[in-house]
Amino acid sequence: MAWDPEQYALFDVWRRRPAHDLVAALPSIEPKTVVDLGCGGGQLARLLAERWPDADVLGVDNSPAMLTWAEGTASRVRWMQADLRDWRPHWPVDLLISNAALHWLDDHQRLFPELLQTLAPGGVLAVQMPRNFEAPSHRLLYETAGEGPWAAKLKEALRTKPVHAPRDYYDWLSPRAARVDIWETEYLQVLNGDVPVLQWTRGTTLVPVMETLQGEELDAFLAAYRAKLEAAYPQRPDGNTLFPFKRLFIVARV
Ligand SMILES: C[S@@+](CC[C@H](N)C(=O)[O-])C[C@H]1O[C@@H](n2cnc3c(N)ncnc32)[C@H](O)[C@@H]1O
Repeated sequence: MAWDPEQYALFDVWRRRPAHDLVAALPSIEPKTVVDLGCGGGQLARLLAERWPDADVLGVDNSPAMLTWAEGTASRVRWMQADLRDWRPHWPVDLLISNAALHWLDDHQRLFPELLQTLAPGGVLAVQMPRNFEAPSHRLLYETAGEGPWAAKLKEALRTKPVHAPRDYYDWLSPRAARVDIWETEYLQVLNGDVPVLQWTRGTTLVPVMETLQGEELDAFLAAYRAKLEAAYPQRPDGNTLFPFKRLFIVARV
């Protein structure tokens, strides 16, 4: 997919925070091998390389644009281009971590147990994914996609339920893990700018739409979606826009 690292980085502070919350919840470990799945521009992988200076840290992503961004930063992290739909580490990993990436993959019932299997004894799988797909930002996107002349084209491009209920992840992981810790957090994100929720989704959820539609058709789609967002997320008297955002956290240790 055509990720735009600059657009994604517009809300860097808010996007980075759940990654820090995930790291803060890790059990006490001294990993020798760390893999960041869907590393994007590499902020989390760089943080982990600084935290564990002796660990081998690998960031994996399939977006050339994101990896070019990552490679342009100073760090000792190794970067690899691979598709996580079929790539798995072929060595035992002490910490397998993923921030805001695995919701782009299907079949979590198969994926999550497979990821556990790649861990070394005592290893940790730590994952954060958005679980905000019923919020107006996403509901209105699917509604706009279904209403216009673009409906047939977008039907395949948008995945409306990529993340399951927390109990499903518990059921898939707990038979194979010594400990599973799952929780959700809703961040009350305070954004500023012109219809900032549209700017936010342009960096992530809208990427498949912007890849599928072009020119006037894309402009018409964005105008229709923007009008809905303006009504759903009005500016507060202080000029800010509140964008509540729910995220799911999973930390499993084998
Ligand atoms: C929302 S970004 C998150 C990036 C980074 N983890 C962060 O927290 O800033 C999602 C990332 O997942 C990557 N991604 C999505 N599907 C992928 C796949 N099938 N294989 C590898 N990477 C994938 C995208 O290229 C993108 O960089």
